[in-house]
This record gives sequence, C-alpha cells and structure tokens, in this order.
Amino acid sequence: MTAYVGLTEIGQPRAGETVAVAAASGAVGSVVGQIAKIKGCRAVGIAGGADKCRFVVEELGFDACVDHHGPDFAGQLAAACPAGIDVYFENVGGAVQQTVWPLLNDFARIPVCGLIAQYNLTAPMPGPDMFSVLRKRLTLRGFIVSDFAARQADFLRDAGEWVRNGRLKYREDVVEGLENAPAAFLGMLQGKNFGKMLVKVPLP
Ligand SMILES: NC(=O)c1ccc[n+]([C@@H]2O[C@H](COP(=O)([O-])OP(=O)(O)OC[C@H]3O[C@@H](n4cnc5c(N)ncnc54)[C@H](OP(=O)(O)O)[C@@H]3O)[C@@H](O)[C@H]2O)c1
Repeated sequence: MTAYVGLTEIGQPRAGETVAVAAASGAVGSVVGQIAKIKGCRAVGIAGGADKCRFVVEELGFDACVDHHGPDFAGQLAAACPAGIDVYFENVGGAVQQTVWPLLNDFARIPVCGLIAQYNLTAPMPGPDMFSVLRKRLTLRGFIVSDFAARQADFLRDAGEWVRNGRLKYREDVVEGLENAPAAFLGMLQGKNFGKMLVKVPLP
C-alpha cells in the first residue's frame, strides 16, 4: 500500500520514464519497482550487496540494480539510468540520496517515503540542494501511507490481481519469537533483512 500510493499518487510514473528506488529488495522498494514495470517504466533498484541486486533483477524483473556498497556506485548508477531519473522514490536518504540527486531530470517527482539512513542521526543532515529543486522544477512530497487510506480498495483490487497473475512478487524474512524482535529491528536498519522483516509470535 505504501509503495502503491506513493508511486501512483505522488510519483505519477508515465510509460517510458525511469523510476529509481533504494532498499529495492525490501518490503516497499520491491513493490515500487514492480509497479513501475507494470506502468511501462524503466525500473532501477539500489540495494546493498550482489545477492540482493541479483534478486531484484532476476526475480522481481527490474531493468537494473546497483549495489550502493560497491565500488564506483555513482558511475554505475549513472550507467543504469542513461536517460536520467524521472521518479526517485525516496526510502533511505543519506549518501544514496546525494548520489541520485545529480541524475534527476527536469520535472522529476520525489515521493519522500522514508529516510532510513538518517533515523539514528543525532543532528539533522544537510538537505538536498535547493537550487536543483528550483532549476529542475522538482516536486518533493512527503507522505504517510495512512494519508491515502481512501485508496485502500483500489490497492487491494490492483495488487490482488497483480499477485494472482504473477506480476507482483514479494519476499519475507521471518524471525521466530518476540524475544528476537529487537535484534531483527536493529538488523533491518543495517540492511541485514532480505525482504519484508516479520516477527512470528505464537497465538496465545
Ligand atoms: N511513509 C510511510 O508511510 C512508510 C510506510 C512504511 C515504510 N516506510 C519507510 O520505507 C522505507 C522502507 O521500509 P521497509 O519496511 O520496506 O524496509 P526494508 O526496505 O524491507 O528494509 C530496510 C532496508 O533499508 C536499507 N538500508 C538501511 N540502511 C541504509 C542506508 N544507510 N543506506 C541505504 N539503504 C539502507 C537496507 O537495504 P539494503 O541492504 O538493500 O541497503 C534495509 O534492508 C523505510 O525508510 C521506512 O521507514 C514509510
């Protein structure tokens, strides 16, 4: 639902455009890229490590995925986006955001969904270059999924159909036991999860 409303309401991807998203193997990012493909866009993922990038391209069907821990991340991302970026679905902020920013096209849309790289900072990070916002006429809009609660029926209808016909896949990373929830949560902040992080607890 977060991916669906953020991308369709704010990102407004058009066929032929390039949509980039980080945390691309995760719960939100994996769905962003797959919906971008359904809308006829080029989907470029950013993920941590070769295994995640391979999954994003080979299993989820993104056009490309770049490892943000790898050497020459900036050069590889530019090569993966030869026509620039029209929609940057912001999941992480931090160094990834700074690398994406110069690749944004005029009139690019940036749904600001999350800033996971910045959640543990004790002081605010310098923001993105506002001259680019002006010069490139960028649209940035933060959102919380509940802002779009009225779209839930649309989401269930569309995502249900896409899951049934195999166009929308998901991966879960399940940890057993509530006592393991803190470690799972901390691991997620460091990219140790591979897919949506879930904690399984027995029914009382
Ligand atoms: N606005 C809303 O309503 C809403 C709702 C749900 C979630 N969110 C946000 O959406 C984002 C994704 O959430 P999710 O639940 O789908 O999590 P997720 O993508 O399943 O897991 C988090 C991923 O973030 C990546 N990451 C962590 N630290 C990073 C860093 N310093 N730089 C780059 N990537 C980093 C890691 O992936 P890699 O190993 O691939 O880097 C990690 O696996 C989060 O920011 C979350 O807060 C927002």
